[in-house]
Amino acid sequence: MLTISPDFVRTLYESADAAHAFDHVLRVTRLAVHIAEAEGANVEIVRVAALLHDVAGSRHDHHLASARMARELLAEAPPTFVDAVAHCIEAHRFSQPPEPLTPEAKCLNDADKLDAIGAVGVARAFAFAGAHGGRLWTHPLSELDQLIGPDREAYRRAHGGTQDYTPSHEFLCKLAGLADAMYTATAREIARERHDFMKAFFHRLDAEAQGLR
Ligand code: ADP
Ligand code: NI
Repeated sequence: MLTISPDFVRTLYESADAAHAFDHVLRVTRLAVHIAEAEGANVEIVRVAALLHDVAGSRHDHHLASARMARELLAEAPPTFVDAVAHCIEAHRFSQPPEPLTPEAKCLNDADKLDAIGAVGVARAFAFAGAHGGRLWTHPLSELDQLIGPDREAYRRAHGGTQDYTPSHEFLCKLAGLADAMYTATAREIARERHDFMKAFFHRLDAEAQGLR
């Protein structure tokens, strides 16, 4: 059977963008393995699923395409192992079905969400905005809140990736809700500090962007 090592997997991610590059995969793998150990989930399933979770890129259906690629790469592994890994990968998206049903899928889903918040989450949101020609800041959070309205996911679907959708928009539409959406107690605990730091960052950005402080 093919050995799924970080060095082998690195070669599969050479064309990935900054927010989904191999360093994202390594961070998610470390977090996911840590959560799996703490939660008593199967660490090998979680490790292999984390290493392959974005292998098909970052398009809207990449969770399904990555699960298919993982099945091909793991063709000689026991079918129950392959099914378990594929389910983790299919269920790793926060905003898209299917829901994670197994302890292993919950570990990967939570690790991927942890990598979208905290200092790394802020850095990834700005890397994404930079790559899409977006602006650093346009409005204070209180005004954005009014602008975005109650259906944050609909706003993100309509405006995400456009020039006027800044990391502060991403914070309100998606990132601010991730800490409360964790499946495991271990990730919820890690998320708390990351969430508070990220929230403080975006509030401070409001003050500095308006020439205050
Ligand atoms: P996933 O692959 O987990 O579904 P996404 O592809 O939606 O996640 O996002 C990957 C990373 O890029 C996240 O950290 C997210 O905050 C950031 N990102 C995605 N879309 C935007 C955007 N329109 N503006 C700023 N950051 C974004
Ligand atoms: Ni993904």
